[in-house]
Amino acid sequence: MDAFIIQGGARLSGTIQVSGSKNASLPILAASLMTDQPCVFRKVPELSDTKTQVKILNTLGVETRWEKGAVHTRLRDTDNSTAPYELVKQMRAGVCVLGPLLGARGHATVSLPGGCVIGERPIDLHLRGLEALGAIITLDKGNIHAKAPKGGLRGAEIYLGGTFGSSVLATDNVMCAAVFAKGTTVIECAACEPEVVDLADCLNAMGAKIEGAGSPRITIHGVKRLKGVDWTVIPDRIETATFLIAGALTRSPITVAGGRPDHLIAVLDILKRMGVEVERKGNKMTVVPCERPRATSLTTLPYPAFPTDVQSPILTLMAIAEGSSQVTERIYPDRFMAAAELKRMGANISTSNGQAVIHGVAKLSGAPVMASDLRAGAALTIAALAAEGETRLARVYHIDRGYERFEDRLRKLGARIERVKDTEDPLVIAAAAGQQ
Ligand code: EPU
Repeated sequence: MDAFIIQGGARLSGTIQVSGSKNASLPILAASLMTDQPCVFRKVPELSDTKTQVKILNTLGVETRWEKGAVHTRLRDTDNSTAPYELVKQMRAGVCVLGPLLGARGHATVSLPGGCVIGERPIDLHLRGLEALGAIITLDKGNIHAKAPKGGLRGAEIYLGGTFGSSVLATDNVMCAAVFAKGTTVIECAACEPEVVDLADCLNAMGAKIEGAGSPRITIHGVKRLKGVDWTVIPDRIETATFLIAGALTRSPITVAGGRPDHLIAVLDILKRMGVEVERKGNKMTVVPCERPRATSLTTLPYPAFPTDVQSPILTLMAIAEGSSQVTERIYPDRFMAAAELKRMGANISTSNGQAVIHGVAKLSGAPVMASDLRAGAALTIAALAAEGETRLARVYHIDRGYERFEDRLRKLGARIERVKDTEDPLVIAAAAGQQ
């Protein structure tokens, strides 16, 4: 298990290139199950999550080759339609093979993803949407079995709103299954996230007939087959936001290149309200830092509102802002794991009932802290860059799930950050003791 050792206080400078989107790549890679022709998916970031997704596809008969940021795929056999627990437990987004498999093969078994540290994360909307297409769903021994009825899936009108609004992967799953359904499907309360649009655009390039992606109503006219595709995934908007916040935190005028400012309007608006301007020139965004950011309040909601995945990073900026900020988390009310660790670095944050109140302090100080999930890990890394002294951040494997070569790219901007083998982590010590 690795840790980061970070010396705070360095000013950053230069340009950092944004990677392809993790959350667009995962369902788009699953589209390789929907054609027997070769596909190329470009700008897929090399992360532990995308590697897990490739392994899941391999078990489902897709041959893959990873070459210079592009994943080449070819469906070779359809003998196995079971996505196993060993892989889905590593990454719950593995569930996004369910819709493609069911649509293309008429049956699928996918291990039921459990909850995770950010919340319970049910999949009722996925199942309800597939059932509306006629699928027969049974849950047995931790697996979801989905089967198309005699005569195949049929188009339907489907309302996909849940207690917390729309669902990204439920929209993806139902949209993929509906591509091969007979007739027309209308999804109401579809997720509007750019990653859903990227998947729909990719499927259309493969021959699907999907209209309205990016709006709450998506219409899918069923087709018989899809062809291969050469597709480039969109830039990662969450990574872009994380780097912009790193610039604001360290008061460094860094440039983030290759992103999509139009996917980040809510984040740019919050930064502006905090006194941090971001100059936009095409796909380049340059942070114009201020001496000390101002406090503000925000609520995380589905796109185009402020994304839950940027909630932990923005907490770090609020932690050193002038005044008191408030964050209401409406997607994952328990997702405040970064707050407890930031407190160890001197932040003044209290959380209860899906809300955080942050009283800004003048400075954070380095401390031993631990990443508990991907976004909390990224937040603690950038907090440490701005803190006084040394931070030891344990369990960076969480960060490796979603940020490509995070420390190398930050180091190129002048950050003092090293990756070390973590011999101090209690889990590592326990494992070593067990081996003796
Ligand atoms: N929900 C339900 N029922 C469902 C599905 C979701 O109630 O059947 C609820 C969830 O519990 C949550 C809300 O709906 O409260 C939204 O969840 P959603 O289904 O949209 O999440 P997801 O599709 O599983 C994706 C991203 C997450 C991101 C969320 C929200 C991928 C692979 N994952 O998850 O990304 O937080 O949308 O934007 O696209 C991350 O990258 O760190 C991450 C967790």
